[in-house]
Amino acid sequence: MKVLVVGKGGREHALVWKLAQDVRIETVYAAPGNIGMTEAVCVPIREDAIEELVQFARDEQIDWTIVGPEGPLVLGIVNAFQAAGLQIFGPSREAAAIEGSKQFAKALMDRAGIPTADHAVFTSAAEAIAYIRRQGAPIVVKADGLAAGKGVTVATTIEQAVQAIDEIFAGDFGQQSSVVIEECLVGEECSLMAFVHEETVIPMVLSQDHKRAFDGDTGPNTGGMGAYSPLPQFDEAAVTEEAMQRVLRPLVEQMASEGIPFTGFLYAGLMLTSRGPSVIEFNARFGDPETEVILPRLETELLDVIIPLMQGNIPEVLWSDDAVVGVVVAANGYPEQPVTGHPVQTSTIGSDVLIFHAGTAAGDEEKIVSAGGRVLVCVAKAKDMQQAVATVYNGLDSFDRTGFFYRTDIAKKAFRTT
Ligand code: AMP
Ligand code: GLY
Repeated sequence: MKVLVVGKGGREHALVWKLAQDVRIETVYAAPGNIGMTEAVCVPIREDAIEELVQFARDEQIDWTIVGPEGPLVLGIVNAFQAAGLQIFGPSREAAAIEGSKQFAKALMDRAGIPTADHAVFTSAAEAIAYIRRQGAPIVVKADGLAAGKGVTVATTIEQAVQAIDEIFAGDFGQQSSVVIEECLVGEECSLMAFVHEETVIPMVLSQDHKRAFDGDTGPNTGGMGAYSPLPQFDEAAVTEEAMQRVLRPLVEQMASEGIPFTGFLYAGLMLTSRGPSVIEFNARFGDPETEVILPRLETELLDVIIPLMQGNIPEVLWSDDAVVGVVVAANGYPEQPVTGHPVQTSTIGSDVLIFHAGTAAGDEEKIVSAGGRVLVCVAKAKDMQQAVATVYNGLDSFDRTGFFYRTDIAKKAFRTT
């Protein structure tokens, strides 16, 4: 079989790595992929060049296509592939709006009775600011549309919230005409992803992202600076069951009943509050960097999940009990202004660390250089989290950090005693 992975980051490298272990797959293609994806044949087609991707999949007789990022999903890559009679796993353009528009997601959650933060939408900066002054801080300000987790400000003061409004309307996150203001939820976050085909939902194991740039959850929000799984500080079975009942099942049932069934990898970003799980966001795809720590625990081949699911069956999905941690090596200046072009010397990273490339490219003299905000995701798997954490950080000890930074406290919350 031939499989195509659409995308170019660390999540897609993890997908390629997982698929390449499946003996039935003779070639994994990645479009456009990145220089670190040695397991794949990279084809120079951009992830949003949908017609070209359809053409390639047809010409190469690709059996299955798996999409990493939200961009092509929101543009309708699944609609286009299916119209061409090609097999692809992901949500339609209409269903991907669960991620593409926060307003659509909020309205849908209201209709389905899914717990989420109270919110209000404004198209005028003055009205938004007046509302913030009435509500008080803490309060959350979000740019509507896609800003890769970076258009969000959790403001602890009214001044911070007002500043965020000014930035959004000044176009700092692309052209924005509206802003979402949310109640600030209090609790610990976790990510629950699921394999979904219409009304069938199979939850994956839990993981936790680290959204802030610096240690101790300080600094600006990023796309994610590291992740780990499992989460020993929680009763995972209970959290998963409650989230299935209150969040995932109501969501897929509501979407199906409205004629926009969801199929694909569904991501729920949850705040575990004193009143139970509350939704921070849905994504219509695998999380990044969650994928990089989840897939090393998945013992079943991805196609043994996807194919039966698409045929209307319920696959058996097996997970390893091992602990996995992933640390993002980011370019200095990320997320605001990442400085790229620095040599990336992966050979100095410990051999017991799995290296997923995210923002890397070919430089001069066969060197690999940084080419994005998140550069590498370094992953270790061990019998317990303590060992996994020691392995990944020891493995990074000799890495030449010139031009890069990473958090040194990934998975620390796993060791907190409650
Ligand atoms: P989002 O892009 O919506 O996932 O938001 C990015 C991050 O901002 C989340 O992972 C949370 O850490 C934080 N956040 C977003 N919404 C809220 C909220 N209503 N209450 C508290 N924190 C939030
Ligand atoms: N790690 C969160 C996301 O993928 O959006």
